[in-house]
Amino acid sequence: MPDIKAQNCTINLEGNSYEFPVIIGSEGEKAIDISKLRDTTGYVTLDVGYKNTGATKSNITFLDGELGVLRHRGYSIEDLAEKANFLEVAYLLLKGELPNKDQFDDFDSSIRHHTLVNEDLQNIFKSFPTGSHPMGQLIAMISSLSAYYPKALDPNRSVDAKNRTMLRLLAKMPTLCAMIYKKRLGHPVVYPSNNLDYVSNFLNMTFRHVSDSDYQHDPVVVDAMNKLLILHADHEQNCSASTVRLVGSSHANLYATIAAGVAALWGPLHGGANQEVLEMLESIKADGGNVQKWVDKAKDKNDSFRLMGFGHRVYKNFDPRAKIIKKTCDDVLNRLGINDPVLDIAKKLEESALTDPYFIERKLYPNVDFYSGIIYRAIGFPTEMFTVLFALGRMPGWIAQWQEMISENQPIGRPRQIYTGHTPRPFIPRGERH
Ligand code: CMC
Repeated sequence: MPDIKAQNCTINLEGNSYEFPVIIGSEGEKAIDISKLRDTTGYVTLDVGYKNTGATKSNITFLDGELGVLRHRGYSIEDLAEKANFLEVAYLLLKGELPNKDQFDDFDSSIRHHTLVNEDLQNIFKSFPTGSHPMGQLIAMISSLSAYYPKALDPNRSVDAKNRTMLRLLAKMPTLCAMIYKKRLGHPVVYPSNNLDYVSNFLNMTFRHVSDSDYQHDPVVVDAMNKLLILHADHEQNCSASTVRLVGSSHANLYATIAAGVAALWGPLHGGANQEVLEMLESIKADGGNVQKWVDKAKDKNDSFRLMGFGHRVYKNFDPRAKIIKKTCDDVLNRLGINDPVLDIAKKLEESALTDPYFIERKLYPNVDFYSGIIYRAIGFPTEMFTVLFALGRMPGWIAQWQEMISENQPIGRPRQIYTGHTPRPFIPRGERH
C-alpha cells in the first residue's frame, strides 16, 4: 500500500502563523491534520454535520463521490458484487484480504457453528406489541445478546475472545432477522440449518414454513440476496458506521455498540430510506402515477417532502451501487416473471428527476435505496423488513470499522462545540421570577 506522504499547511491567526501537517491518503485524498489545533492556537473547527471532517484514517473502504467509485480493500464493488459471495466480502472487510479456499471454509464453518440464538430470546419477542416495527425489535435483540455473553462486556478481552463476539454477531444476525419476520406473522420460528450457506440459511429460516420439508429456495433469489448484501456491506464513515465508532470508542461492548449503529441506520435519511422509497412509489401509484407532481413537490421549498432514494452526501455523480441494483432489479423481476407496476413508476421518476435542473444543479442521483425495495418485495419481504435487510448486509462493515478503531487504540470520540447560549447571570429564586 502506498505510504501516506506528509506536507505542511500554514494557518494564520491573529498575526501568528502555525504549521499543521497535511495527510495524503493512498488514493490522493488530502486532509489538514488539526489534532493539535486547539493546544497550539486555542481555536477549534466548526463543521456541523461533519461535511468536511475526516474522523479517522481507514484502510477498509474507498469511495470517490465525484467519479462514482466504491472499493473495499482495493477491490471494486462491481467485481465483488459480480464475482464474490457475501461471506467472502465479510471476510475481506474484517481481515483485509480475500480468503483462499481453506480460509473461507474455516470462516464459513465458524459462522455456521454460532447460528443458534438462546431459546430465552423468544420471550423478549412476546413483549413487543403486534405490528411493532422490526427495526425497533432488531435493536433490542442485538443489544440483549450482551446478556447472554456477559464476558463480552469486558473491554480488555483477548483478541480471540473479541473475534468470537464478531463471529457470533455475524452468525446470529440472519437468525434474529428471520425470527423477527416469523414473529411478526405469528408463525413458529424455523431454526438454522447449518448444512446451508449463509444466504440460503437466512432465506430458509425466513420463508420456509416449519411443516414444509420440501421448501427449495430459488437460486435467482439466493444470487440476488448475495448481491444486495454485498452492496450494503460497508460504506466508510456514514452515519451508522460513525455511530458505531463513537459508541465503541467509549469501550461499550460490541453488542450495545452495534445496536446503536442499527438505531442510526433506522432513520429515513439513512437506511430507513429503502422503506420510504417503496411507500413513496405506492403513494404515487395510488395518486394516478403523476410522477411530475411528486418531482415538483420535492422541489417545493415550502414542502418538507424529499424524493426518497435520491441524493447522497458523498456521491455527486452517481451511486455505483444504485447502477448495479437497477440492473439486478430488472434481471430478478424478469427471471421471477414478476411485473411490478412500481418499477415503471420508479423508472419514470428517475428519468424525470435526472432531466430536471433542480436535481441536476444539486447533483442529486438515485442512491442505493432507490431500487433495492422493489427487489426485496419481489423476493417476498414486507416493506417494514427492508431496513432490517440493510442492517444484515451492513453488519461486517460495522464490525470492521469498530475493529479498526479498537486495534488502533483510538481515543474516545468527543467533539467540541461553540457555545452560543447565555453568558453568566444571577440566579433568581422561584417566587421572585416574572
Ligand atoms: N429531494 C429533494 N431535494 C433534495 C434531496 C431529495 N432527495 N436531497 C437533497 N436535496 C436538496 C436539499 O434540499 C438541498 O437543497 P438547497 O441547496 O436548495 O437547500 C440540496 O439538495 C443539498 O441537500 P442536503 O440536505 O444539504 O445534502 P446532505 O448531504 O446533507 O443530505 C441526504 C444527503 C442523503 C440526507 C439527502 O440527499 C436526502 O435527504 N435524501 C433523501 C433520503 C435518502 O434517500 N437517504 C438515503 C441515502 S443513501 C443510503 C444511506 O446512506 O443509507
